[in-house]
Amino acid sequence: MIPVLLDCDTGIDDALALVYLAALHKLGTIKLVGVSTTAGNVDVAQTALNTQWVLEQCDLKEIPVVAGQAVPLEVPLVTTPETHGQHGLGYITGYITPELHTQIPAASWQELWHEAINTYPDLRLIVTGPATNLATFGPVSRTTLMGGAYLYPGNTTPTAEWNSWVDPHAAKQAFAQATDPIKVCSLGVTEQFTINPTSLNAVIAALGRTPIAQYLPEILRFYFEFHEAQGEGYLAQIHDLLTCMIALEQIPFTARELTIDVEAESELLRGTTIADIRGHWGRPANANLVQTADIAAAHAELLRTLHAATNL
Ligand code: RIB
Ligand code: CA
Repeated sequence: MIPVLLDCDTGIDDALALVYLAALHKLGTIKLVGVSTTAGNVDVAQTALNTQWVLEQCDLKEIPVVAGQAVPLEVPLVTTPETHGQHGLGYITGYITPELHTQIPAASWQELWHEAINTYPDLRLIVTGPATNLATFGPVSRTTLMGGAYLYPGNTTPTAEWNSWVDPHAAKQAFAQATDPIKVCSLGVTEQFTINPTSLNAVIAALGRTPIAQYLPEILRFYFEFHEAQGEGYLAQIHDLLTCMIALEQIPFTARELTIDVEAESELLRGTTIADIRGHWGRPANANLVQTADIAAAHAELLRTLHAATNL
């Protein structure tokens, strides 16, 4: 059983990552020790509420969820309701109730991280939002991070991916402080993992009576429309779910150890991530940059896992 700590900014693809991790937890493949959240797709209180609610709709109310840092290390917070919806879960808003706001404990996210790390020596940390919490806390072994665009067009600026752009100083610091290489799932790999209305129906069928299933059409419809408006087609790139599969080695992938740095000061190049492929810098490797992933295996893994958990 792999102990897992997730740090996310729930948002729509983070939500699908939570659905997958919840299924793996039920199957005993992982122990989801807890979830902390960052600001990114929406503000940090909302990402925590969204995470809490998604896990409840996956019948996993007992997983600790704690809000992390509220703003990036140095730059003002920018969120993206145009991508994930006003509250971060597409078109659904009915779950936003005053009672829900009281359910997020005021506990310290750092205490959650310290306890998880001290309790589980082989803990896997998966970061699917800006690296603000990771940079603030300090290096964590066996970290996997979704972020960056390496010799690949950015989704936020011509050269920057969203998580790295939201908090470029945190991304820079996370790699600078890393004591063992961070496994990195960047846009060039994660944009290959997409779902469309047909494959979403298969996911919903695999979820059976799990409560979250009834909400996925309206959560994903917002994301389908966003990607269509971007010229990607009526589909959704599920970056964070693929990142979790790779973090947990549930699908075949290849990776390459190298040194990464991030531009944090330039306005034009803010959040640009650079991989020193040829070793020009002569610095120790701080990353394991995923090069390829078996996308067909990822689709099969998702349906297999959801179906198995639904039919326990
Ligand atoms: O660029 C994609 C990343 O930014 C994903 O983690 C998505 O959830 C957003 O946070
Ligand atoms: Ca995310």
